[in-house]
Amino acid sequence: MARHIVARTSDIPPGGNKVFGVEGRDIVVFHVNGEFFALLNRCPHEGAPLAKAACVARLTSPEPGVYERSRVGELLRCPWHGWEFDMRSGQSWFDPKRVKVRSYPVAVESGEELQKGPYVAETFPVHVEDNYVIVEV
Ligand code: FES
Repeated sequence: MARHIVARTSDIPPGGNKVFGVEGRDIVVFHVNGEFFALLNRCPHEGAPLAKAACVARLTSPEPGVYERSRVGELLRCPWHGWEFDMRSGQSWFDPKRVKVRSYPVAVESGEELQKGPYVAETFPVHVEDNYVIVEV
């Protein structure tokens, strides 16, 4: 897997997402609860763009009439037919053993860390600020 710097962290606001073309694939990066998640921007059912999905909470019911919300914003509800996926793993809640959205590892690194490398032939003073979102594809 190659690492691709796709954006500054500030380019994707909290609760938002952005689509990037990486190695011929549309990959959507979500920013939820302080974390970034990268998924193929295509629903495995009929191909809806997941960038348009609703980011919802996990809803559980320990007993009749009692509902609990958790992981607010971490579940995706497809805009076309409502199938739901776990943003963290891509797994479907509808059919977890067979249906999954492709997910990709994401890292956040500072510009200062990214500029350093072991094989620098010639150096110049460079100062890079901000943090960047990196997707492995
Ligand atoms: S295209 Fe996503 S649920 Fe049908």
